Amino acid sequence: MRTMAMPKDANWLGDIFGGWLMSHADIAGAIHAYRRSGGKVVTVAVDDFTFIQPVYIGDVVTFFCEVDRVGRTSMVVAVDIRAERPGSPAGTSIHVASARITYVHVDDERRPREIPAEPA
Ligand SMILES: CC(C)(COP(=O)(O)OP(=O)(O)OC[C@H]1O[C@@H](n2cnc3c(N)ncnc32)[C@H](O)[C@@H]1OP(=O)(O)O)[C@@H](O)C(=O)NCCC(=O)NCCS
Repeated sequence: MRTMAMPKDANWLGDIFGGWLMSHADIAGAIHAYRRSGGKVVTVAVDDFTFIQPVYIGDVVTFFCEVDRVGRTSMVVAVDIRAERPGSPAGTSIHVASARITYVHVDDERRPREIPAEPA
């Protein structure tokens, strides 16, 4: 998932709020978990979220997701977040944050549901 950090996402120092990055990481991870499980997922835990470098207004931020572990009804998605800074050489990006988020596959009554052995 890719987006751009805008002035409304920044504090008075011009740094992007950590919560903005967290919410986008959660959305990116949920899309990945939804595809892997073939249905609805809910976030049950943010196991780790590490901010490595600041993100600034105008950065193009990309969220790279990978399923790290699949349990019976839950899975851990690792999210690596990289920023391309305006004016830096094309194709170069900085590793700004990483996260591990646990999602649970649920049915229509929001009860945990088994994740298929193979991606849907
Ligand atoms: C997610 C939810 C359905 C799990 O319900 P539950 O009664 O704890 O279910 P279970 O005990 O059967 O656990 C289901 C799975 O979640 C995992 N899990 C539960 N709590 C966890 C936690 N704090 N951290 C990591 N994994 C957790 C369990 O290990 C289990 O995984 P497994 O089946 O792969 O072994 C329930 O807690 C819930 O609805 N939470 C709110 C989710 C939500 O609304 N998120 C958005 C917040 S705005």
